[in-house]
Amino acid sequence: MRKTLVAGNWKLNGSKDSIKELLGGVLAGMSEAKSDVAVCAPYIYIPLVQELLSGTDVAYGSESISEYDSGAYTGEISGAMLKDFDCEYAIVGHSERRTLFAEKDSDTANKFAAARKHGLKPILCVGELLEEREQGITEEVVARQLDAVIELEGVEALADGVIAYEPVWAIGTGMTASPQQAQDVHAFIRGKIAALNAGVAEKVQILYGGSVNGGNADELFAMADIDGGLIGGASLKAEDFLAICKAG
Ligand code: G3P
Repeated sequence: MRKTLVAGNWKLNGSKDSIKELLGGVLAGMSEAKSDVAVCAPYIYIPLVQELLSGTDVAYGSESISEYDSGAYTGEISGAMLKDFDCEYAIVGHSERRTLFAEKDSDTANKFAAARKHGLKPILCVGELLEEREQGITEEVVARQLDAVIELEGVEALADGVIAYEPVWAIGTGMTASPQQAQDVHAFIRGKIAALNAGVAEKVQILYGGSVNGGNADELFAMADIDGGLIGGASLKAEDFLAICKAG
């Protein structure tokens, strides 16, 4: 039985003060959490997050990672640097990285590999654009995004990370995928992995992301192949985030 994971993705939000308040509130309510809980923070706040979360039940990580280990790559942050601050997770391939910063499937695969290499758990985001759903090519898109990682790292590598299905049209829009719409894609993802390795398919957590809140989390997490959520907007307030952590 897979445990659910609720991971916050703060994106480009927060300040020292707001993070202290947010994490103080989350820690105060953690006794009621039914899921494992993690937060992914902007790089510059990771030392603060480490200070606030070390020794607690809340794990933490980054929102991206460099595919490079070291050298002349101005502005990059490596897996080794993240490990130096005891990060556990690194999000890779978020749709905002793909669409706003032109990260290709191959870049995402390299970042997945970099995270694994340094002992971080990559949270691999996949998901289709609205026009791709309307064209009926959701599965094709998600399969292509997964294949980039499987071809580089092998299907077994997926067991070292987490997959997050985030339909791009549901991100930050309030337009959540229905539990059945999400389940259908989650089942497709698990089935695709199972065709290559049943053990990995059984083990890997597949999170749903896209306008998850305290009101819809229960229904979503009740679906057979939905193992928790990757949360944007609702991860920025302790009360909202805890309502999701209590679901499932
Ligand atoms: O990675 C989380 C995400 O993109 C969903 O954002 O604000 O719709 O929960 P939001």
